[in-house]
Amino acid sequence: MKIGILTSGGDAPGINATIRGIGKTAINHYGMEVIGIQNGFSGLLYEDVMQLTDTSLSGILNLGGTILGTAREKMFRKMITSPDEKDREQIKDAYHQLGLDCLVCIGGNGTQRTTWMLHELGLNVIGVPKTIDNDVFGTDITFGFDTAVNIATEAIDRLHSTASSHRRVMVIELMGHHVGWISLYAGMAGGADIILLPEFGYNMNVVVNHIRKRMEMGKAYSIVVVGEGIEVPGKERPARYFTTEIEKQTGFETRETVLGYIQRGGSPSPCDRILGTQLGGHAAHLIHEKQFGRMVAKIGNNITDVSLAEVAGKLRVVTPDTPLVTQGKKMGVSFGV
Ligand code: F6P
Repeated sequence: MKIGILTSGGDAPGINATIRGIGKTAINHYGMEVIGIQNGFSGLLYEDVMQLTDTSLSGILNLGGTILGTAREKMFRKMITSPDEKDREQIKDAYHQLGLDCLVCIGGNGTQRTTWMLHELGLNVIGVPKTIDNDVFGTDITFGFDTAVNIATEAIDRLHSTASSHRRVMVIELMGHHVGWISLYAGMAGGADIILLPEFGYNMNVVVNHIRKRMEMGKAYSIVVVGEGIEVPGKERPARYFTTEIEKQTGFETRETVLGYIQRGGSPSPCDRILGTQLGGHAAHLIHEKQFGRMVAKIGNNITDVSLAEVAGKLRVVTPDTPLVTQGKKMGVSFGV
C-alpha cells in the first residue's frame, strides 16, 4: 500500500514523533510505501510531496514543529464545501494522481472535520488528533498538551517569586482559543489563585473580591491565570483587560504576561513522544486493516479509534463538573464566577 501523511493547523510538540510512529510502523512492520505531503492540504493539490523512508524518519523524535510544514486551510475548506462539483473532483484527482491508498491527516478539530469530508468524498482517510489545546472531541488527550502544560507551569512557577517580592498581582494569559484546558491544568499545577476559562466566563466582582480577601488574609500576592479565549469588552487581549481592571478596582499593583507561542514551540515532553508514537502505530494498523474513516484516540489508558463522523465539528470543553475544577474549588481556587 502507498500512504500519504500531512499535518494541518497550528503545530504542536509531538507531531514529528507521530509522523515517525506512523511511518516507521508502516514501512518496517507492514511493508508500505510512505510519502509526506508538505504544507498541509494545499500540498495535496500541488503534489508537494517528499518520500519518507526509515532513514529520513530517524532523528526527528525529539524535534518540535513538523518536518512536513503545516498551514491553516481556509482555501481547501472552501473547495471541499464549494457548490461547484469541479472543486471536489480536483481534490479527488490529486489524491488518485499520487497513487494513494490512504491519506493520514494530523490536525485539530478543523482538520478532523475536513478529513471526515474527504471520507465522505470516497477517499480512504485516517485522522490523528493533534493540538496543544486538548480540545479534540473523541479523545481524552492530544499530544502537545503535556508539553504546553509543562512550559506554562514553569512560567507560573517563575511568577510566584517576583510577585511575592513586589507584593503584586500577576496576570498570565495562556493559549486555548476556544477552551481552557491549558489554563486549568497549568493553573492548578502552578498553584494559581484565580483561573478564568473561556467556557465559564467571569464576574469581575468575584475576581476582585477574591484578590482583596487574599490580601486581607495576609497573602502578599496573587496569581491569576486567564485563558486567551475568554471574552472581554473591546479589542484588548484578556491579560491586558484583567490587569487594568484589577489594578483599578483593588489598587494593588498588577502586571501582565502573555506566554504566547512559547507554549507551542520546542521539543516534546516524553509523554507527548510516547503518545504520538502510540497513536501513529495505531494509525498504521488501521490502514493495514483497511478500517478507514476513523480517528485514532486515547480513551482512558487505551489506544483506540473512533468514527470521524462522531467527532467532526465537535469540541471537547471544560465543564463545571470536570474533576480538576471541582478539586480546585474545594481548595479555595476561584474560577471567577
Ligand atoms: O494550536 C492552537 C492554538 O495554539 C490556539 O490556542 C491559538 O489561539 C492558536 O493556535 C493560534 O495559532 P495561529 O496564530 O497559528 O493561528
